[in-house]
Amino acid sequence: MKNIFPTLILLVVLSVTACSMGAPVPPTPTPDPLVVQGQQVFNARCATCHALVPDTIIIGPSLAGVATRAETRVKGQTAEEYLQLSVLRPGDYVVEGFTDIMITNFSKELTNEDMNALMAFLLTLKSHS
Ligand code: HEC
Repeated sequence: MKNIFPTLILLVVLSVTACSMGAPVPPTPTPDPLVVQGQQVFNARCATCHALVPDTIIIGPSLAGVATRAETRVKGQTAEEYLQLSVLRPGDYVVEGFTDIMITNFSKELTNEDMNALMAFLLTLKSHS
């Protein structure tokens, strides 16, 4: 009798492959560790004055969607440059309707690593509308 075992194996392999092609597993979002660290820095240093909920003023403006606004705030500055300057030299550009009371010692207080992480986090705050 002819051995059909190899054929069976082949069929099983083919059907498994077909299934996995037909039903893509939704990608599990793995949070970027840098962004997670940045959110922690934000919670510790910035959340006292800035909400992440739109249109919610604590002391400073809400930072919801700030990565999108940052692109157009100051002519010639990229979103990243604007956000960095907003933290390191907040008096350079003062958001309309607010006074220049944001703490100005972050350039000394934050390590480079924390600053990079904070920037990675702020850049995720895009507006969806
Ligand atoms: C003592 C309160 C206070 C703290 C703490 C504070 N901010 Fe602010 N922030 C403000 C105020 C007030 C403004 C608006 C005036 C201005 O533009 O400087 C502002 C403005 C900003 C802007 C500009 C927003 C825009 O729409 O253009 C960014 C970005 C920002 N802050 C980020 C941060 C980050 C990041 C931290 C933490 C490292 C932080 N702030 C900590 C009060 C604060």
